[in-house]
Amino acid sequence: MSKLLATKPIETILGEAAETGNTTLKRTLGPTNLVALGIGAIIGTGIFVLTGPTAALYAGPGVVYAFIVAAVACVFAGLCYAEFAAMIPVAGSAYTYGYATLGEIFAWIIGWDLVLEYAFGAATVCSGWSGYVLSLLQDFHIRLPPEIAGTPGTPFVYWQGHWELLSRITMKLAQTGVDPNTLPHRYGVFNLIAFIGIMAVTMILVIGIKESANFNSVIVAIKVIVLLIFLWLGGETLMHHQELLKMNWHPFVPPNTGTFGQFGMSGVMRAAGVIFFAYIGFDAVSTAAQEAKNPKRDMPLGILGSLIICTVLYILVALVLTGLVNYHDLNVPDSLAVGIDVTGVRWGSFLVKIGALGGLSSTMVVMLLGQSRVFFSMSKDGLLPKFFSTVHPKFQTPWISSLTVGVVVATFASLIPLAKLGEMTSIGTLLAFIIVSAGVWVLRKRRPELPRPFRAPWMPVTPILGIVVSLAMMLFLPWETWARLIIWLIAGMFIYVFYSRRHSKVQIELGEEVAGD
Ligand code: ALA
Repeated sequence: MSKLLATKPIETILGEAAETGNTTLKRTLGPTNLVALGIGAIIGTGIFVLTGPTAALYAGPGVVYAFIVAAVACVFAGLCYAEFAAMIPVAGSAYTYGYATLGEIFAWIIGWDLVLEYAFGAATVCSGWSGYVLSLLQDFHIRLPPEIAGTPGTPFVYWQGHWELLSRITMKLAQTGVDPNTLPHRYGVFNLIAFIGIMAVTMILVIGIKESANFNSVIVAIKVIVLLIFLWLGGETLMHHQELLKMNWHPFVPPNTGTFGQFGMSGVMRAAGVIFFAYIGFDAVSTAAQEAKNPKRDMPLGILGSLIICTVLYILVALVLTGLVNYHDLNVPDSLAVGIDVTGVRWGSFLVKIGALGGLSSTMVVMLLGQSRVFFSMSKDGLLPKFFSTVHPKFQTPWISSLTVGVVVATFASLIPLAKLGEMTSIGTLLAFIIVSAGVWVLRKRRPELPRPFRAPWMPVTPILGIVVSLAMMLFLPWETWARLIIWLIAGMFIYVFYSRRHSKVQIELGEEVAGD
């Protein structure tokens, strides 16, 4: 048992980082840069894509409350991330924090679980991105055959001379009295655009990109401006047509249908578990701890600042969107574009689509990059095969790791529906939050002497609330999502027992020490 809980000494981690120049990063980032970094990683598919379907399926306009609940969990977990990040300031992740503090088995679980956050997250974002690409193509009268325009089983119907995504026109059909069953049907088989999207980003990662602060700032500005324009156009329309609000906001939380998680309070909580996806990414701020000019002050400012700005934006966007469009009509992949169509401003829809495409591309890059970094660290530690940390001689990138991850993620994105991918990402990330929050608390007790440049406030209330709210959101997710998580973790355990434990450098060193005694 003690072997499973072997930790990797913090000195070793900092030493390894020094070898790669990681500890000598310049301290150049101020609070504004850190807030921008957070916003850049956070805003993506969650707001541009998931808001609509989550309102349609689980909470109606009550999706606004879901955004608030999810934000609360993120604030508490975020403070715990900040404590870890400042304590072990390498450009690592929860995996490295876990290895240094809780022990190898926990590090493995976190690393394996982070695949759900990053790999499934990238697939979710790409699935959303493909929805906007298809919608934009349609604006230019380009329509792909249904078989390559959706994941397996996605229904399309032939209406008014075109193959249309059924969920997009369900309400229109109802209003015109057309029974969809009477229309010809075809079904999606493979989401080709999503596959191409992930492979394109993978190629960029293989060749190597310099994460330039300027590029990030431009993308962040585009995303925020697009959301502000949505609020401005949508808000103006609602002011002039207040009857829309009366029609669409009543009831604000539609009554439960009798099925757990479908509207009512359980629906709002389930929506929180799903929409939580929209906030994922703020941990990117914690990975920049070493580049912060003043981490003690700026880490919490960066994390909380980006979270607060996104929370306010998200709540306003959800209010305006559910005011403009009845939630029944929002089960579409490009809900903000559908919302802006109501305003009648044609360039608005075009702008939202372009903004979403640019914004989502950068989120995909961040997520795939995060995934290959985690595999890279796990492979360096011997927990995964060596090829995951093989660096390309010319491009200097972990190309085999990136390519393997890319092909797998592209396959997920083209075969699994967006909602399922998003739920897996959310449950995996919530689990990571729980482990990180618990880790901070445990470590305060076990190693109180470790220097902590930033201390999460209100101990132990902060980690406890981080754990409780995250667990509550997990509990409201569908049981199928739980089943998938459990299968995922069991598969991970097999790999750990039969491969990682035997190849782990820390275990090998422990074995040598015992033999030498
Ligand atoms: N928060 C990120 C998004 O919504 C992952 O796409």
